[in-house]
Amino acid sequence: MPISLTPQQNQAGDPDLAAQGFGRLSPHAALQFDLSTQSRLAAEHFEQWGYVVLKGALEAQEVEALNQFFEDSQRQRPDLWGLGEKRKPHHRNQGLILSQPLLDFPELDQYLQHPGSFSLIASLLGGTEHVRWSEFNFRETPPDAGLGTMNFHHDAVLPDRHLRAPYLPCDYLCSIHYLTPVTDLSPAFCVVPGSHRFESLRAAFEALGADYVEQPIRGPAGTCILYDTALFHTRLDGNGREGRRTWHQYHARGGFLSSSLPTTSRYIRAPSPSLTDWNLIPQRLIEHPDPKLRRYFSHWNSAQGEWVASGFDPKVRATMPRGES
Ligand SMILES: [Fe+2]
Repeated sequence: MPISLTPQQNQAGDPDLAAQGFGRLSPHAALQFDLSTQSRLAAEHFEQWGYVVLKGALEAQEVEALNQFFEDSQRQRPDLWGLGEKRKPHHRNQGLILSQPLLDFPELDQYLQHPGSFSLIASLLGGTEHVRWSEFNFRETPPDAGLGTMNFHHDAVLPDRHLRAPYLPCDYLCSIHYLTPVTDLSPAFCVVPGSHRFESLRAAFEALGADYVEQPIRGPAGTCILYDTALFHTRLDGNGREGRRTWHQYHARGGFLSSSLPTTSRYIRAPSPSLTDWNLIPQRLIEHPDPKLRRYFSHWNSAQGEWVASGFDPKVRATMPRGES
């Protein structure tokens, strides 16, 4: 595969397109695991490379129901998707996003701890007592959206990841479910395996050497990707005509954990801080009768604290970013 020496050069060599890495695309399909029979292998893959792909994580009828949800909610509540007159600046060039569907659609609660992925997510974050909800959203690249401009990046990270021992469990973990088939013609999630311990993509490129590769992830609807948010990743363009629908759910690590740093043999890792300052948890989940679910929803940000103090006042919610109802 062609290898460029600068991440400023994209694969097409076109200066108007995004800097999508060093151009060393893997010629192989990403390994995929069946969680029901390969849970240990799937966990080992994540622990080594910072991501894992689960095949058939959603049932066909769930894929169908979620696609129907996209269509119904876009028709009934286009404003929540940023469609039409109120299309928001931060959504331009990134497709459509329904940022906080749990607030207004309790029928989605059934997907929160999905059996196709949740047991592995929980164990990778240290067990069911340590897994915390952070974010849930739906995104769509509509058909004929053209080419995007996403660069390789990582999401939220904590600085001690470079020094702490052991590294795992990670601070945040995201799951992406494909709700439409992802082929080489459609936008595709792409990761740099093993890049989660590096400050920059160039540092990963230089340190990983021959192991450095940009791995596109393609698969049928129902495919699930779990990744450490410290892992470098991007969205590869397809042909600009095929669309894609995805469900994104972020988790954080909760509880206090004994660890060590080079300067001190004993070090306590605090719970991961709130992933965002705007994501809100609805009252029915904050006050859920199951204490395990209340613990799962126990990572509140300042906006959440203010909303709870107001008695979940819809007027207070409406003042918050992406809080429209
Ligand atoms: Fe990202």
